[in-house]
This record gives sequence, structure tokens and C-alpha cells, in this order.
Amino acid sequence: LAAAAAASFAFTGVAQAADECADGEIVIKFSHVVSAQGHPKGEMASALADRINSEMDGTACMQVFPSSQLFDDNKVMEALLLGDVQLAAPSLSKFESYTLKYRVFDLPFLFSNMDAVTTFTKGDKGQELLGAMSEYGFVGLGYVFNGLKQFSANKPLNVPTDAAGLKFRVQTSDVAVAMIEAMGANAQKLAFKEVYGALQTGVVDGQENTWSNIYTKKFFEVQDGTTETNHQLLTYLAVTSQEWLDSLEPGVRDQFVKIFTEVSDEYNQRAASINEDNKKQIMDAGGVVRNLTPEQRNEWVETMKPVWDQFRDDIGQDVIDAAVASNK
Ligand code: LMR
Repeated sequence: LAAAAAASFAFTGVAQAADECADGEIVIKFSHVVSAQGHPKGEMASALADRINSEMDGTACMQVFPSSQLFDDNKVMEALLLGDVQLAAPSLSKFESYTLKYRVFDLPFLFSNMDAVTTFTKGDKGQELLGAMSEYGFVGLGYVFNGLKQFSANKPLNVPTDAAGLKFRVQTSDVAVAMIEAMGANAQKLAFKEVYGALQTGVVDGQENTWSNIYTKKFFEVQDGTTETNHQLLTYLAVTSQEWLDSLEPGVRDQFVKIFTEVSDEYNQRAASINEDNKKQIMDAGGVVRNLTPEQRNEWVETMKPVWDQFRDDIGQDVIDAAVASNK
């Protein structure tokens, strides 16, 4: 089954044709909120479906539902437990009702680049964190990368005090709220699909996201400009229900997990360059991108660093230490 076909069925609300997946095939529905194309997670999801549908043909069939067509991130976890979908990949900022350990990924200016994120997520602590939601029946299959985040607003932002008094959309993350408040600004938690409209109508003045989200959802078109702060990570947990995973025959499960791991490893390596392309596309489309001087960057770091202290106990010093060490 072509991912695009699944998406268009969801989009038009037409009931899915019974022959999309063959009779007897295990149907794996993967719901996510970003664009299917030109985006690290969207591209990864399509590539995963392509491989499952060719290599597991007759056994399993994956349907991808991008762009919040099926569920947004605050509904998808329940949908996993109900068996309405089998795979989701919300950002690690969105699991606060299940675990506070993932707050490590949100600490501002923690990871200096995506190589550090690879080191941390492949290391002992990163692997241990895949199981942080087991008491709720969820299992992390692995991490899917996006990239580092940038700030945009309806006025130029060069130093954090430029943001004073503005309202920024954030994900459902208290770390993000603390970070925005440290800038003297106000945070508003909103679902991803609401961000463009909220920027356009002035419900919020600004937002923070990766180049790929800013470009593919056109946020830059309704903002004064974007400042390359690289202040925080946006990465995803590919998550499923333990019950569903356990229901698979061992051979089928192993093949599914192996394909998932190969595809996510490949796309995680590409995530940084996909984001670079998105940044170029923003500039080609006339979007303003501002770079920081070393002094300006230092002001952002100094403003946000105190946020770490608020969340140390939730995360655990051992986990923070491992993440910091991954930068070397
Ligand atoms: C956001 O809500 O900004 C992101 O989590 C969306 C995404 O999946 O990249």
C-alpha cells in the first residue's frame, strides 16, 4: 500500500478500502503530525512503510497517516492502547504525563550537535530510557531524530531580552515553559496543528522549532524572521504498545524491529542535512534567518542555563551527566 493512498483516504474521510492491506496481513498504522515530505520524521515514516510493505508483504502492511490527519500527539497515546494505531512518534517533550525522565532531552543548550544525540541515545542511559513508560503499557522502539530548535517571532530576536513580554507557542513541556519564562516571555502550550493559525492571527507572537517544521508548516511566512539559536533538541520516541508488540509472532516481531532500527538509523544520520536543506529553502523563499554573534549566543546560554536546576531531580543527575558527556 502506498503511504500517499492511505493519507488521502484519511484526508477525505473516505472509509478505507478493504483491499488496501491483504486479508490476513497484520495492519500497522503509523500516525504522526508532520509533513510526509522533506521532513526527517515524515521521510523516515514513508521509508519504513516502503520496506515493511515490500519485505513483509503477505505478513504485515504499514499505513502512514501524516500531518495530524488521524490523531494529534495528545490523543495518539490512548489510541495506541486502544489498538486504533500501532506506531506513533511524538516528540520527547510530550510524554510528561507518563515520565519526567525525558525532560533531559529538553534541557536548553545540552546537546551541541546531532552526533552528541546519537552518542547519548545509543548509550546505556539512552537505551534504558526506552523503557521509561513500561508501567503504562508503552515501549519505545527507538529514537527518531529531528534536530535543534530555532526561535522565530513577529519582531527581530537577537538577544533574549528582545523576547520580553512576547507570547510563544510551546509543546506540552514544562521545561519549555520554564525556558520561555527565563526570557521574560510568556508560554502557551498548543498542539502542533494549531501553530500556523495561532501565529497568523496573533494568538501567539512567536514559536520555537526545527528548520524542517518551520519550513514544511510555513511558520516563517507569518513571522518577522527566525534566529539560529540551536537552543534545544527536538527528537522523537517511536512508541508502541507492549501488548501489540507481544502479540506478534517472534519471527515477525524481530523482522519488524530490525527494519525499524535500520530505517531509523539511516534517517537519523540524514536528519541534520534535511534540516539544513529546509533552512536554505526558507531563505530561498525570502524568509529572514538571523545568526548570532558569539556574544549574543552567550546571552542566550546564560539566560537559559538556570532552567536545568529546576528539573535535575526529575531527570536524575546520572542521566544528565551521561547526556553532557556525549558532547565530547
Ligand atoms: C511540535 O509540536 O512542535 C513538534 O513536536 C511536532 C513534531 O512532531 O515535530
